Amino acid sequence: MSAPADIRRKTLWWRFNRFLERHLPSGLYSRSMLIVIVPMLVFQLIMTGIFLERHWEKVTKALSKSLGREIGLVVSLYDTGPKTPQALAELEKTVNEHLSIGLRIEKGSLPPPRPKPWFSILHYRLSKYVNKYVPGRPFWLDTIGQSGYVDIRIQVDKGLIFRFLTPQSRAYASSTGIFLTWMAGTSFVLLILAVIFLHKQIKPILRLAEAAQAFGKGRDIRDFEPRGAREVRDAAQAFLNMKRRIERHVEQRTTMLAGVSHDLRTILTRFRLELSMLDCDDEQLAAMRADVDEMQRMLEGYIAFVRDYEGEQSRQTDICELLDSVREGLRHAERHLRIACPGGLAARVKPTALRRAIANLAANAVNHAASEIRITAWRDNEYLRISIEDDGPGIPPHMRDKVFRPFVRLDTARNQDTAGTGLGLAIALDIAHKHGGDIELSESALGGLRAEMRIPL
Ligand SMILES: Nc1ncnc2c1ncn2[C@@H]1O[C@H](COP(=O)(O)OP(=O)(O)OP(=O)(O)O)[C@@H](O)[C@H]1O
Ligand SMILES: [Mg+2]
Repeated sequence: MSAPADIRRKTLWWRFNRFLERHLPSGLYSRSMLIVIVPMLVFQLIMTGIFLERHWEKVTKALSKSLGREIGLVVSLYDTGPKTPQALAELEKTVNEHLSIGLRIEKGSLPPPRPKPWFSILHYRLSKYVNKYVPGRPFWLDTIGQSGYVDIRIQVDKGLIFRFLTPQSRAYASSTGIFLTWMAGTSFVLLILAVIFLHKQIKPILRLAEAAQAFGKGRDIRDFEPRGAREVRDAAQAFLNMKRRIERHVEQRTTMLAGVSHDLRTILTRFRLELSMLDCDDEQLAAMRADVDEMQRMLEGYIAFVRDYEGEQSRQTDICELLDSVREGLRHAERHLRIACPGGLAARVKPTALRRAIANLAANAVNHAASEIRITAWRDNEYLRISIEDDGPGIPPHMRDKVFRPFVRLDTARNQDTAGTGLGLAIALDIAHKHGGDIELSESALGGLRAEMRIPL
């Protein structure tokens, strides 16, 4: 195939895919339902169409035609025979004996015409064939007034009516309704069965998706079990193995760091004790003490970094209360701190971990702000959002990714005297990730840094 044709074909295919993506429902469940229901409906429509067109029309046509012919025969028998009352009675008797078209010869004239039934193939065909086989004679037709019968009256002479009260089955393929009802009924039953089976197949996939999502948000999925078709069970098992490996990894890291920090702490305490017993001048001693204090603070920073928040359960938490408790922790900060939080704002989070993350962001703001700090919390459709802003120097855009790395501190940090390990943002981001969320740094309207944390609800 030539290149442009190939490209055109690919674009068409791509467009078709895009069209489907846009217009199909997004969920697996509804998509599968469509895949089952649409072909079934199309099949039904085609079958019904073919049936009506081919079978029903043809049979009705043949039956109406033969009835029209029989009526034509009766009328010509009358025309050619004697018109005495005995002859008429004889004709009526013979016709009823042999043709079963319910002839009654009556005196009188035709009743006023009935309104034509809307879309009646029987009415249309009968009028056509009566007209054709009994030409030139006025007639009156009723296909719906008498249940199960068609009533045809023909004015054969002045004051003389031939009335045919014929069973509908002589003129009309009456099994159609039954056929269609059966077809619709069985399809409906099949559809219900298909939906039940489909439901059973799809449920394990949905459960796996839910479990993966919950794990991503750091929530408990203890009651999850692999179920369903082999491939789905395999995927679920692989997911569980992966989850276990991650958990084991985190556990090892925590245990190792807890051990190291415990050992170092013991040494530091001993060191401090030895310092106090040392015989040297105060200035040197104070400097050494300050160093030991800093080491201690750093050590605590490292421990906080690896602290395992996995063990903490997510629970419904009042976010405004949580922000107030962060403010309590910052009470000594002389900067002006404002919190905007809509009353009753609550979300499922790990409260201790989240408090820690916000406290880290707020501590940074306190360290860098000139005079003003603003914390705002709100929720949109899918996320809980908390922004922390200050009017400090901010962080230049090209450094905003870098500062999330552990141990990264910028030269612009004005209070270089405040001891910091460069772990605050790394910890906050880690906690946001454990909730399935993220933190984004940008410029604040106040002039400094704006850190926005979003947590999926
Ligand atoms: N609000 C802010 N305004 C300006 N710079 C900031 C702000 N927040 C953080 N930074 C810069 O990002 C760096 C990393 O911050 P991070 O919180 O990770 O570490 P730290 O505050 O230096 O130490 P720690 O939080 O571990 O005590 C900081 O050193 C600082 O330079
Ligand atoms: Mg910090």
